[in-house]
Amino acid sequence: MPAGDKPTRWAALQAAVQGDAVCAANVRPGKKIVLGVGSLDATIMFVGEAPGAEEEIQGEPFVGPAGQLLTRMIQAMGLKREEVYIGNIMNWRPQMPTAEGREQVGNRPPNQEEMQYCLPYLRAQIEVVQPQVLVALGTTAAQGLLGFGTFKMLGEIRGQWREFSGRPLMVTYHPSYILRNQSNRSKRMIWEDLLKVMERVGLPISEKQRKFFLG
Ligand code: URA
Repeated sequence: MPAGDKPTRWAALQAAVQGDAVCAANVRPGKKIVLGVGSLDATIMFVGEAPGAEEEIQGEPFVGPAGQLLTRMIQAMGLKREEVYIGNIMNWRPQMPTAEGREQVGNRPPNQEEMQYCLPYLRAQIEVVQPQVLVALGTTAAQGLLGFGTFKMLGEIRGQWREFSGRPLMVTYHPSYILRNQSNRSKRMIWEDLLKVMERVGLPISEKQRKFFLG
């Protein structure tokens, strides 16, 4: 990582990942390698799993359906998407076999080796942005950050403060869980985790916000 201010270091990181031969070899022709996006002065960094179909087209994390929901969650916290930083464990969409000339349908979680390869890029983004807290979205992100074997089910550790890279880490469900599970109970679980994040970084919380998704 070169010396310099945050934009300089982030640009160097972007150049490194875009020039990474392993990343390039794992991306289908015409698709993009994806680094994180957002404010380099963010106090909160969200960490997801891997780019999906939309993300590898646009080259930006969380722009598909789960991303649109994440953006609404961020707005519910009283923030704009541009005020936080959003990254992923992976810089490419894990490939699945597809018939000749056909687009990949669906996604698979990255394997341990893939995650190990990309993790230094996430660490480097954390080093540049220096967020006050990290939020792991879903099982894969939590496994990537905390290590395989740390937990069996995400429910065991969600809503708890852990640590990664010397920073507090909140573990919660992935927004795609809500897309599959539209109940107020599921929404409230994630929301309670986000309330803890808001408290930790000193964001104002209104009475209305405290009661979101209750009842
Ligand atoms: N899901 C993720 O975990 N990351 C993305 O960038 C998009 C969807």
